[in-house]
Amino acid sequence: MAKAADRLAVFRDHLGDLAAQTRLRRLSPREGIDFSSNDYLGLAGSERLAGAARRALDRGVPVGAAGSRLLRGNVDLQEQFESEAAQFFRADAVLGFGGGYMANFAMLATLPQRGDLLLMDELSHASTHEGARAGRAEIATFRHGDVGHAKDVITSWRSAGQTGAVWIAVESLYSMDGDRAPLDALAALADEHGFLIVDEAHATGVYGPDGRGLAHHLEGRSNVLTLHTLGKALGGSGALICGARALIDFMINRSRPFIFATAPSPLMAAVGCEALAILRDEPERRDALHSHIALFGAEMGRRLPQLAISGSQIAPLIVGGDAPTMALAGRLQEMGFDIRGIRPPTVPEGTSRLRVALTLNVTEEDIRRLAEALEELWPDM
Ligand SMILES: Cc1ncc(COP(=O)(O)O)c(C=O)c1O
Repeated sequence: MAKAADRLAVFRDHLGDLAAQTRLRRLSPREGIDFSSNDYLGLAGSERLAGAARRALDRGVPVGAAGSRLLRGNVDLQEQFESEAAQFFRADAVLGFGGGYMANFAMLATLPQRGDLLLMDELSHASTHEGARAGRAEIATFRHGDVGHAKDVITSWRSAGQTGAVWIAVESLYSMDGDRAPLDALAALADEHGFLIVDEAHATGVYGPDGRGLAHHLEGRSNVLTLHTLGKALGGSGALICGARALIDFMINRSRPFIFATAPSPLMAAVGCEALAILRDEPERRDALHSHIALFGAEMGRRLPQLAISGSQIAPLIVGGDAPTMALAGRLQEMGFDIRGIRPPTVPEGTSRLRVALTLNVTEEDIRRLAEALEELWPDM
């Protein structure tokens, strides 16, 4: 029988293969000027969120929920947060989760039924793909942002005699490309065939009135679900699914990641309520982020006009190969910028990139210095 030590060989070999392909991932400390986090509004370390957590602790809110929502874990504060969020996002009903990955997974694994089609943008987040795989519906993808292709896929599925609902799943602002989904055309397609699921993870707090997201004009529709995460612009952790009461109640009854998991920390409900209040009372944060986006676009347009800049707070700079991407990221890190290289399988083969994320954790001067550094290093690629 193989010894325990030998059983590790398969893992070590795999890691060796990753290293040989320059794809080995390592945890590294937080260092340098933040051009990589999703803390877009600079709220994660804000006094307002810290104060909300402190006050909640002082008035006896427990740190842990101590059970599933369906058992002892349904603390009042979580329900209060969901009802405030329902008002904020003009939703029929809202359900909270410990994180966006889990919420996406739960929604896609639970709602589309056998006989339905789950049609995802090919660049949808890993949690969408994993949830789809765990569910019962037939799965298909359409070319990134291509509504015509989405229509073709639906037409050929229907022509095979399928009568089920089509669930179209997209991100409103793509996490690795910083571009937007054609939401209106997709909503029209959903009106004809079924439902639209919009992952607003990177748009919540940044776009729309009060930061309600890019799908704010679709709020309250019975065939539209939105996912808002708390771990990015809102500065905490967790996620909210907004949708029709019947869909949310179905999830409460049928979603295994909801039923068989400890409820999110009640402290995050306190933090979430405060984050929504900040979105309402401090529009200047959003304005400041949008001027950072404009400044970065102008600096890059002047210095490296050959690069397409997304125009959102997520600016991918496509390099191509893995090794040059990681080398460039390394050079920038040595210069004090926290910028990460993103490689397959997170992004498609041949599109390794620097993902520059703009947040209020940087100054205008930082942005100018970064553009200057990029101009200096880019020709070496
Ligand atoms: C588009 C998208 N959806 C969902 C998630 C997962 O959210 P969370 O980090 O809250 O688990 C992410 C996070 O990386 C994301 O980028």
